[in-house]
Amino acid sequence: MSATTPLTQRSDSDVGSLDFRKARKRSLNGSVSLRDLGYVLFPVKFLVLNLPVPCDLFIPVVIKGDALPTFVKILERGQLFTDTWKITFKQHRLDEVYVQSHDRHLLESYFQEAIEAMPENEERFNWQKSVILYNYGEFVAGHIYNDVHQEGHEKRSLQWAEAVGKFLQMKRVSISVFYRFFAKNYEIFSHSVHVALMAMTFCTFLGWRSEDVIRLGVAGVWHDIGKLWVDALILSSSSLLSQEEFAVIMKHPQTAFDHLESRGQLDTDQLAAVLQHHESMDGTGYPQGLRGTEIHPFARVLHICDCFDALTTHRPYRRAVTPFKALRLMEREMKLSFDRHLLYKFIQFLGS
Ligand SMILES: [Fe+2]
Ligand SMILES: [Fe+2]
Repeated sequence: MSATTPLTQRSDSDVGSLDFRKARKRSLNGSVSLRDLGYVLFPVKFLVLNLPVPCDLFIPVVIKGDALPTFVKILERGQLFTDTWKITFKQHRLDEVYVQSHDRHLLESYFQEAIEAMPENEERFNWQKSVILYNYGEFVAGHIYNDVHQEGHEKRSLQWAEAVGKFLQMKRVSISVFYRFFAKNYEIFSHSVHVALMAMTFCTFLGWRSEDVIRLGVAGVWHDIGKLWVDALILSSSSLLSQEEFAVIMKHPQTAFDHLESRGQLDTDQLAAVLQHHESMDGTGYPQGLRGTEIHPFARVLHICDCFDALTTHRPYRRAVTPFKALRLMEREMKLSFDRHLLYKFIQFLGS
């Protein structure tokens, strides 16, 4: 199949007159669960330029008269994802492709291999690496927050954090390297990646040991997992929450802790980070109302990063503020909530 006309030249004669726009609409409508058909979504933005694709890639298309979409293979495993392909996807406004469920494991190693394919210690590849690491984080967190009960999630989050840790060790990067990719629209899984990346980069800036940075990164990925047990209507509410509703939200650190403890994969520091990420230095936080050094250092870092990301992304109940305004708010109106020394360092870090 030629890369220049990939969507019209195909061996399957049935798919000669496909309506791609309709196909995408169908896949997004949720009227048919594409996952139930044995496919998982893979955003096109995750594909790395000039690398072979890790497995066969498909797009769902609706053939007239058919109730279910047909999956048409557009790229074969091992085929190079070139600029021409990138342009073709753009022209057809295709921003997602599908992968057969049994090939999912190939995607996990794809990101790792993509990073390894880049030369080490070469400044000009740092940008590409940071894109891959951010996408890799979204991929891992997306799957965790989509299906929390699956086995192996902790290992996947650790592999991601290790890859980030290695990158941060090679060259101390400023958060701006990642910050420019941060999605402005709030999704729990992307928020978790933001918090994890910010915490890892910040603690590297503070001179923490790489092992601790990695362990904290894993905790960052998982910190809001308890929100999966909160009614989606409460989470997406654009109006002021009632006391009862807020009480439900306040349960999420404990729910997360219980879930993660029962899975037995995270260590006690990571569990404390998750449980205490809404505790405040002045004792006004939740769920336990801990004070000062009663709060684990991991949790004190997560609390700052969590709050900063919450303020700088759009939420259903308010618009995002600029990083500058967020810091000013945190410093002037919320400073009793944070570890003063860490907050001071965080301000330095963002300006670095
Ligand atoms: Fe939270
Ligand atoms: Fe959070």
